[in-house]
Amino acid sequence: MASVPKRAPNFQAVHSIIIFVFVIILIPFLSSSDSAVAHASPATKTVAKQIEAVALLKWKASLDNQSQSLLSSWNETSHCTWVGIGCNNASKVTNLTLDSIGLRGTLSSLNFSSLPHLVKLDLSNNLIYGTIPSQIGSLARLTFLYVSVNHLSGTIPIDIGMLRSLVDLDLSGNNLTGSIPTSIGNLRNLTMLYLYKNSLCGSIPQEIGMLRSLTDLELSTNNLTESIPTSIGNLKNLTTLCLYENSLSGSIPQEIGMLRSLTDLELSTNNLTESIPTSIGNLRNLTTLYLYENSLSGSIPQEVGMLTSLTNLALYRNYLTGSIPATIGNLRNLTTLYLYNNSLSGSIPKEVGMLTSLTDLELSTNNLTGSIPASIGNLRNLTTLYLYENSLSGSIPQEVGMLTSLTNLALYRNYLTGSIPASIGNLRNLTTLYLYENSLSGSIPQEVGMLRSLTDLSLYKNFLTGSIPASIGNLRNLITLYLYENSLSGSIPQEIGMLRSLTDLALSTNNLTGSIPASIGNLRNLTTLYLYENSLSGSIPQEVGMLRSLTDLELSTNNLTGSIPASIGNLRNLTTLYLYKNSLSGSIPQEVGMLRSLTDLELSTNYLTGSIPTSIGNLRNLTRLILFENSLSGSIPQEVGMLRSLTDLELSTNNFTGSIPTSIGNLRNLTRLILYENSLSGSIPQEVQGVGFVLRDHLGSILSMEDIPITKAFSTDMVEAMGFHMAVTRLQNLGWNNVTVSWKFLIQLSNFIPIPASCRSCRVDSSTTRYS
Ligand SMILES: *[C@@H]1O[C@H](CO)[C@@H](O)[C@H](O)[C@H]1NC(C)=O
Ligand SMILES: *[C@@H]1O[C@H](CO)[C@@H](O)[C@H](O)[C@H]1NC(C)=O
Ligand SMILES: *[C@@H]1O[C@H](CO)[C@@H](O)[C@H](O)[C@H]1NC(C)=O
Ligand SMILES: *[C@@H]1O[C@H](CO)[C@@H](O)[C@H](O)[C@H]1NC(C)=O
Ligand SMILES: *[C@@H]1O[C@H](CO)[C@@H](O)[C@H](O)[C@H]1NC(C)=O
Ligand SMILES: *[C@@H]1O[C@H](CO)[C@@H](O)[C@H](O)[C@H]1NC(C)=O
Ligand SMILES: *[C@@H]1O[C@H](CO)[C@@H](O)[C@H](O)[C@H]1NC(C)=O
Ligand SMILES: *[C@@H]1O[C@H](CO)[C@@H](O)[C@H](O)[C@H]1NC(C)=O
Ligand SMILES: *[C@@H]1O[C@H](CO)[C@@H](O)[C@H](O)[C@H]1NC(C)=O
Ligand SMILES: *[C@@H]1O[C@H](CO)[C@@H](O)[C@H](O)[C@H]1NC(C)=O
Ligand SMILES: *[C@@H]1O[C@H](CO)[C@@H](O)[C@H](O)[C@H]1NC(C)=O
Ligand SMILES: *[C@@H]1O[C@H](CO)[C@@H](O)[C@H](O)[C@H]1NC(C)=O
Repeated sequence: MASVPKRAPNFQAVHSIIIFVFVIILIPFLSSSDSAVAHASPATKTVAKQIEAVALLKWKASLDNQSQSLLSSWNETSHCTWVGIGCNNASKVTNLTLDSIGLRGTLSSLNFSSLPHLVKLDLSNNLIYGTIPSQIGSLARLTFLYVSVNHLSGTIPIDIGMLRSLVDLDLSGNNLTGSIPTSIGNLRNLTMLYLYKNSLCGSIPQEIGMLRSLTDLELSTNNLTESIPTSIGNLKNLTTLCLYENSLSGSIPQEIGMLRSLTDLELSTNNLTESIPTSIGNLRNLTTLYLYENSLSGSIPQEVGMLTSLTNLALYRNYLTGSIPATIGNLRNLTTLYLYNNSLSGSIPKEVGMLTSLTDLELSTNNLTGSIPASIGNLRNLTTLYLYENSLSGSIPQEVGMLTSLTNLALYRNYLTGSIPASIGNLRNLTTLYLYENSLSGSIPQEVGMLRSLTDLSLYKNFLTGSIPASIGNLRNLITLYLYENSLSGSIPQEIGMLRSLTDLALSTNNLTGSIPASIGNLRNLTTLYLYENSLSGSIPQEVGMLRSLTDLELSTNNLTGSIPASIGNLRNLTTLYLYKNSLSGSIPQEVGMLRSLTDLELSTNYLTGSIPTSIGNLRNLTRLILFENSLSGSIPQEVGMLRSLTDLELSTNNFTGSIPTSIGNLRNLTRLILYENSLSGSIPQEVQGVGFVLRDHLGSILSMEDIPITKAFSTDMVEAMGFHMAVTRLQNLGWNNVTVSWKFLIQLSNFIPIPASCRSCRVDSSTTRYS
């Protein structure tokens, strides 16, 4: 320690006790003022020096045990040798530096008036709690005050304004509340003011404009309100102004343009309105300009192009309109340009291609039109290019293939046409490629297989034709592959089985033919497999049963034949199983009963035979059991009544015989029970009557239905009065919504037309649907 005095006395324990007592007696009579010390006798000087030690020891004693042990050197030795203490040549404490050591306690026991020579107080990054005592104002020489990252609460004392020597003031990262005292304006020598990350409220005082020496003003992450004072324009030496994450409102003052030394201007995440002042063009040294997440409107001023030192420009999430000024091309040092989520229109200026330092270009979610300029190919350092959710048209320029540093390319939701350029195969570092929801045509280039870093490939909802290139098997890191809703043809390449990282595979709604490759069984991480709405043939490979992570298996609307493999019972995580609209035959495997997570089981419109396995009763989470249009026979198993979550049970158009199981009456959530076109017999069991169900054909005539009077809009009497066909027309005109129909009418209806799903809101009041 540089400031340890040469003449530091080495007290013996006995002496120190005597002096200690002496000091305690003397304290009340001693003045701590400088002049009092200066004119005191030599004896008093020693005592005065000890006043500092006593004050420090008293504070030490107020800290928790662990903190006290950290300060074990604070003992009988000269306090100038203690850890964290620095003294001047006169053995006066000038420096108290105890940062980042885990001190826990308050400042209330620290007698600041006993430390009149203190120049630097650094207690940052500890566990100091309680308030900042107003007594701190007595530290007349204090130049550096750091108490950041503690748990201080309460308000900033007005007396802080008495610390006129302060150069650095850092109270950041505490729990300070109340407003910033106007007295802060007295601190004319302040160069650094950090009050960020507190809970300060109220407005930024106008007096802040008096702190003309400030170079660094950071008030971010508080609850400050009202507008930025225009006096801020006085702070000509300011290099950093951070006011982000507050609730500041009003416009950005024109005076901001006077802060010509600024390198960093961050006003993001506030409630600032109106347009960006053109004066901003004066800030020639600005490297970072963050105005994002405000309510700024108007257009981006042309003058932005004068900020040639800019490296980061973020104006996203505002209401900016107009076009991107071509002058932006001047910002040759720009590395990030974030203008997304605004209402920018016009085309992307070709000058963007001059921003050769760019690594991130995000213009997504705007109203940009025109085509992607070919000049974009100059941006060799670009890692992220997001132009998605605009109205861009034209084709993807060939030059995109020159962006060899790209890791993320998202052009989705535009009106892009033409084919995917083969040059895209050059983007060896690409991890995500999102081109979905455009009007792209042509085939998927073979070269896609060179993108070995890809994790996500989404080309869905385009007009892509041709077959899926076998080279896709090279994409060993692929996690999601979405090619659905295109016009892809040919068969699913065998090589798909090499994509062992895949979790999501969606090839649905295309023209794919051939059979499902057995290699699909290798995709052990797959959770969703969508192959529906294609022309796939052959049988469902046994290997599907190896996809134990599957939650969603949808193979519906294809030409699949053969039987449902028993191995399907292994898919214990499956929640959705759609095999409807195929040509599947054989019986429903008993193993289906092992799919205990299943909520949705649709096997309708196939050639399934045999009876419903009784194991179905295990599927306690099932909400929809849809088996219509098959050749299922036997009776409906009583176990169906165990499916307590069921809302839809549709078994129509099969060969079921026997009576309706009474257990169906247990299904309290059932809203659709469709049993028509079977060979069921007997009467509708009493237990079933509360259910809003539909019976058609055989049942309607076989069952002896009483005339159940439910007289609301479509009461039996009324239907008879207006005539059946008139009633149907009227019901259809009402869209089946919010109608109440008589039981008898409903049965009659179901004989003629399928009851639409919207009839879930048809009220068949259960209290009146009883036989009398
Ligand atoms: C006082 O602290 C110093 C530094 O930790 C240590 O070397 C010395 O032994 C201590 N003296 C006593 C009496 O505890
Ligand atoms: C203050 O004291 C600390 C630790 O005692 C020392 O590291 C630092 O250099 C001192 N600073 C000044 C400005 O005296
Ligand atoms: C601020 O106070 C809240 C509630 O009093 C407390 O949960 C939080 O940890 C405190 N934060 C700091 C940084 O002390
Ligand atoms: C402010 O700084 C100036 C120049 O460094 C110095 O002369 C003056 O004493 C300081 N004022 C106070 C109150 O410390
Ligand atoms: C800050 O403002 C937010 C939103 O108005 C409020 O939820 C929060 O409680 C405020 N915090 C403090 C400490 O005042
Ligand atoms: C502003 O900075 C300059 C250069 O560092 C310095 O000479 C001048 O004193 C500063 N102005 C104020 C008011 O501190
Ligand atoms: C922004 O202002 C609007 C209305 O002026 C207000 O409703 C909203 O709470 C404000 N948001 C913030 C973060 O202060
Ligand atoms: C701008 O930066 C340059 C280089 O760092 C510096 O010389 C110049 O003084 C700065 N201009 C202003 C107005 O601060
Ligand atoms: C651009 O960056 C380079 C390298 O960091 C630097 O030398 C140059 O001064 C910067 N240009 C401007 C206008 O700031
Ligand atoms: C784009 O423009 C249309 C019509 O001019 C407007 O309705 C829409 O909200 C705009 N979208 C965005 C994201 O600004
Ligand atoms: C591109 O990045 C490299 C490596 O980070 C860097 O050396 C080079 O200066 C950058 N090029 C431009 C034009 O910024
Ligand atoms: C591709 O990524 C690797 C690893 O991150 C990196 O070393 C290499 O420079 C990148 N290539 C290009 C062209 O950016």
